[in-house]
Amino acid sequence: MIPQLRGANAILTGGSQGLGPLIARELAQAGVNLALAARSADKLQAVAAEVAALGVTAVAIPADLTQEADRLHLLARAAEALGPIDLLINNAGLEPIGRFVRKTANEIEQTVTTNLTAPVLLARAVLPNMLERRRGHIVNMASLAGKLGLPYNAIYGATKAALLAWSHALAVELEGTGVSVSVVAPGYVSDVGMFSRHNATAPGLLGESTPTDVVRGVMKALRTGATEVIVNPRPFQPVHAAYILAPRLLLAAMRRLGVIDFFRRTYDV
Ligand SMILES: NC(=O)c1ccc[n+]([C@@H]2O[C@H](COP(=O)([O-])OP(=O)(O)OC[C@H]3O[C@@H](n4cnc5c(N)ncnc54)[C@H](OP(=O)(O)O)[C@@H]3O)[C@@H](O)[C@H]2O)c1
Repeated sequence: MIPQLRGANAILTGGSQGLGPLIARELAQAGVNLALAARSADKLQAVAAEVAALGVTAVAIPADLTQEADRLHLLARAAEALGPIDLLINNAGLEPIGRFVRKTANEIEQTVTTNLTAPVLLARAVLPNMLERRRGHIVNMASLAGKLGLPYNAIYGATKAALLAWSHALAVELEGTGVSVSVVAPGYVSDVGMFSRHNATAPGLLGESTPTDVVRGVMKALRTGATEVIVNPRPFQPVHAAYILAPRLLLAAMRRLGVIDFFRRTYDV
């Protein structure tokens, strides 16, 4: 957590569509200057123009985060345009749904690199300067899929579980340095983003958050320095406790409630 957001410089990945532009808008309204990254240059440019109109510096830096050269370009261009980076928001993500056995090696590698390796390497790159200045906050966008292990989304869940574990570990390592780490874990999100594109209704057991809830979660992480922020309309801890303590019982309940059928219908494509 940094003392005040106004005037801070942030890199936000996944700024071209879905939740990213909404996070960008909220950050700009809080006075944060932005370096926005994603592959879609036109969409990214439009978001940068929109948030710049709110009175902050905003630059679009097209980058494929699976490519080392693009990551290095993003870091250099962001520092050149904004100055030292205070906030890194690792929001970009890929969700290659479907049976694990049908996933190609390339799909698996792209997903692991986008969702896990790139956030880790971007953090590794910005941390030394943050530590030197005793000022910085890294926010990683995980998912409740990283806490439950959901079928037909195995690789996605695996990367999000790793992101959660890495964030928790790093948060402790950095205690007392002036640099903090948070992980935001939303469940299903309505209206925009990857879940909304399935045109499905989430199981009642978990429910659906709004995009605004997720943006609030990110801002809560930034303003409080909380290590983990779960964004879900229903209490998640009881489900998670059942998953840890009585997994067979939870699976049986999920089958009875039609949750496993929901996964098959929505994700087994
Ligand atoms: N929506 C949900 O229900 C939900 C729930 C839990 C967690 N989340 C997490 O929230 C984050 C945002 O998701 P979203 O719903 O907004 O998804 P989205 O609409 O699919 O947007 C994903 C963003 O990531 C960018 N991206 C993907 N691959 C990239 C790459 N190789 N290099 C650079 N940028 C890349 C995309 O931009 P380009 O395609 O232009 O590159 C896009 O801006 C993700 O980490 C996701 O896992 C979402």
